[in-house]
Amino acid sequence: MFNVAIDGPAGAGKSTIAKMVAKKMNLIYVDTGSMYRAMALSCIRKGINPQEHVKVAEEIKDLIISLEYENGMQQVILNGENVNSYIRTEEVGNMTSAIATYKEVRDKLVAIQRQIAEEKDVIMDGRDIGTCVLKDAPVKIYLTADARTRAQRRYKELVQKGEQCDIDIIEKDIKDRDYRDMHREISPLKKAEDAVVIDSSNMTIEEVVDNISDIIEKKKEKMKG
Ligand code: DC
Repeated sequence: MFNVAIDGPAGAGKSTIAKMVAKKMNLIYVDTGSMYRAMALSCIRKGINPQEHVKVAEEIKDLIISLEYENGMQQVILNGENVNSYIRTEEVGNMTSAIATYKEVRDKLVAIQRQIAEEKDVIMDGRDIGTCVLKDAPVKIYLTADARTRAQRRYKELVQKGEQCDIDIIEKDIKDRDYRDMHREISPLKKAEDAVVIDSSNMTIEEVVDNISDIIEKKKEKMKG
């Protein structure tokens, strides 16, 4: 299989970019964050506190998480229920970042993610794809942007949805989440040694998509010859 790993901090544009590259290069897009979010949703629904490690581990043990595709759009299925429309809230995001530090949570999802990548050509986005899940992926991208730029992008998104928000608070949340993701004990967010770094702060979406597509094409040619 030909797999592409794409990692980076929250708000760097990974999902937007990965979806477009997937379409252009005929890959299946796998958003691993949504799988962690589905687990977090299940814990929230049960009233579990993110600090209750044992309860979280117990809750997720028998959960069945799978992915389906509707018109090319990934849907996360939690115990048979499509939970896509419930996982994008700030509440779920914060819970996710907390429970994603637990080994039980990561082990379970990493196994599912590896299985998907064994069966299909994927572009998989997350925090630990190049360093842990798909260590042998022929293409690894570390996509980043400075915190202010990422906050501005998030701010625009929320304003468009008609939500009231404060850009300084968003920037602080982004920095806090970066810190948690980069300093956790298991699989912290970091660039894989063989990843190509792309800083999208001053690039358009199209430029980033073209850049990654070029890298993929060159790699495929090299592997053929
Ligand atoms: O990419 P996202 O915002 O949907 O991710 C939500 C949280 O899940 C984020 O705080 C980090 C965590 N995550 C992770 O630890 N490992 C992954 N492969 C993907 C996401």
